[in-house]
Amino acid sequence: MKNKILFVIKGLKITPNFKEKLTHNFHELTVLEMLIYLIFIRSFWDKKRRFFFEGSLALPGQMYIAERKVLFDVIKEKKPRHCFEVGTYTGGGSTYFISKAFESVGSGHLVTLENDPYFYNKAKKYYAEKIPVVAKHVEFMFGDKAQDFDKIIKLYVRVDCAFLDGAEDSNQTLSQYNYFLPFFHKGTILMVHDWNTEKTRELKPILLRGGKWRVYKEVKPPESVGLIVFEML
Ligand SMILES: C[S@@+](CC[C@H](N)C(=O)[O-])C[C@H]1O[C@@H](n2cnc3c(N)ncnc32)[C@H](O)[C@@H]1O
Repeated sequence: MKNKILFVIKGLKITPNFKEKLTHNFHELTVLEMLIYLIFIRSFWDKKRRFFFEGSLALPGQMYIAERKVLFDVIKEKKPRHCFEVGTYTGGGSTYFISKAFESVGSGHLVTLENDPYFYNKAKKYYAEKIPVVAKHVEFMFGDKAQDFDKIIKLYVRVDCAFLDGAEDSNQTLSQYNYFLPFFHKGTILMVHDWNTEKTRELKPILLRGGKWRVYKEVKPPESVGLIVFEML
């Protein structure tokens, strides 16, 4: 209770980048900004913009509007049978939009891995209790390495889609890529977040070297902190 009161008191302000945050997501807003958005702004936005900005209102998550839209559209366009994600966080960002796209397609699963027990439990519980229809398209896994996917990946034999958004650690991202590589095939979709940060420093030259991957979509700053989607040739 004390934490909730402190959260509200701290949030009674408008930040200098409020306007910019309206291109990010609802959960980046302060409490006062949330109220301004809900009372004065929301009704002027179309349904699509609200969907990508808000996500599931009671479930925090990361990613900007443009990034969420790319993840959603790619699943709808390419219709992979499944997608493997590293980095669930609380489940309200990429996890929500990828699984909503599978729900919209009517089939497909996201298998998502998180190494923080608090986030893993929070996300899993919220989906089961609050959004069971979406939960049918997600499998939550607790673990800290791509090898934790072993059992599930063997059932699928090949990997149609992967999304890398784990720790800000280029070596971990590279190991995740190397784990998936033998399972990738022509047409596999590989989505990578934080394309301009340390997270992807070692993987970037490998993907851009040519021959193996083509860039299918990319969102750049300021609409994104860097999200790139590759298709395997
Ligand atoms: C940038 S956040 C992911 C944001 C999320 N994709 C979203 O859109 O809201 C990175 C997440 O990866 C988790 N993580 C870090 N290292 C990991 C690892 N080795 N295995 C699995 N998850 C990891 C962190 O705990 C954190 O929740």
